[in-house]
Amino acid sequence: MKVLVVGGGGREHAIAWKLAQSPAVSEVVCQSGNPGMAQVARCAPEPAGGIEAMADWAQAEGIDLTVVGPEVYLALGIVDAFSRRGLKIVGPTRSAAAIESDKAFAKELMARAKIPTASFVVCSSPAEARAAIRRMGAPVVVKAAGLAAGKGVTVAATRDEAFAAVSRVMEERVFGDAGERVVIEEFLEGEEASVLAFVDGERALPMEAAQDHKTAYDGDRGPNTGGMGAYSPAPVVSPRILQEVQEKILKAAVEAMAREGRPYRGILYAGLMITADGPKVIEFNCRFGDPETQALLPRLKSDLLEPLLATVEGGLDRVRLEWDPRPCVTVVLASEGYPGDYETGYPITGVEEAEAMEDVLVFHAGTRREGGRLLTDGGRVLGVTALGRTVGEAIERAYAAADVIQFQGKHFRRDIGRRALQREKF
Ligand code: AMP
Ligand code: GLY
Repeated sequence: MKVLVVGGGGREHAIAWKLAQSPAVSEVVCQSGNPGMAQVARCAPEPAGGIEAMADWAQAEGIDLTVVGPEVYLALGIVDAFSRRGLKIVGPTRSAAAIESDKAFAKELMARAKIPTASFVVCSSPAEARAAIRRMGAPVVVKAAGLAAGKGVTVAATRDEAFAAVSRVMEERVFGDAGERVVIEEFLEGEEASVLAFVDGERALPMEAAQDHKTAYDGDRGPNTGGMGAYSPAPVVSPRILQEVQEKILKAAVEAMAREGRPYRGILYAGLMITADGPKVIEFNCRFGDPETQALLPRLKSDLLEPLLATVEGGLDRVRLEWDPRPCVTVVLASEGYPGDYETGYPITGVEEAEAMEDVLVFHAGTRREGGRLLTDGGRVLGVTALGRTVGEAIERAYAAADVIQFQGKHFRRDIGRRALQREKF
């Protein structure tokens, strides 16, 4: 089978790396890709002309299955375009991708399906939003309803902060049309975790839980980023909580989407707050998480192609996932200044040395190769990943490898996995 991976970040490198090991996969092809992916796949440039051109290209190349990383393609309808040509592709249709691309739809779906989530109001005008904030009181959360590259959420400690967020999103339109409506919601307290599942339209097959580290600096301080590190399993998601997530959240969401004429296929990512009242949904995403996928797939012992194919063809009930019990930790090495402005083009050294270390993998995100040299080329540069017998060992190995890799302005958090470590000790 010839498999196409769309996207060129750490998540897509992990997907391509895992698919390249599948006995049924003869070739992995990447659109855009990165130098890390080039070690396990053939990289082709993304054709100009958007998703229709991508579908034409896949057809001409004889691609048997396509896996999409970034949500933007899904929200644009890449699955619809490929399916019209009879091409197999993993992911929801444009209409089902609304579970991520339209937060107002997602919240209303959760309300209709009685899925546990923060209480909320969808508002179409600034006045309405301010009234909702006054009613709910601080702390309160303000979210642009549309896609805002993960930056559309403000957790406001005070009413004034919440008002300011409403002005930015709805009046200044810093996220464009994504700010036409906002969701004002209750602030949830607890520990965050993510559960991703394969979904075939009728049922959800969950993966093991993972935890992301969203803020830029140690101690969960600083601005939100795309993710500075991750680990799996997430001990806060006990077997009992996972059961609850499966029944009350994943199963309920998949059934509701089918009932409402938007059958969901692909990967469903539930971002959760584990509260004193049990798990509640913070958001749904319609794709693999990044960096969570980098910490998840090294633990997947069974084949990845089989569950991915089943999301398209059905039959997930016959698929069993087998996990390495060892914890896995990913530390993201970023460019100084990220998630704000940063410079690129600095030489990177030590990647091969790091990869030679025991149970260490280095996934590329923002890198490029120029004349034999590896250079920085993005905010998140590399995902240094390690397995260990304990979380402590995985953390030690990941940081030992992170220290071996050098580039000017290398920034990373020193506390990835610490919460899991604390739970392991008690
Ligand atoms: P999102 O983009 O929806 O994942 O939100 C970004 C981050 O904001 C989340 O990872 C949480 O840390 C925080 N957040 C979002 N919604 C809430 C909420 N209702 N209560 C507390 N924190 C939240
Ligand atoms: N790690 C968060 C996300 O992929 O959305």
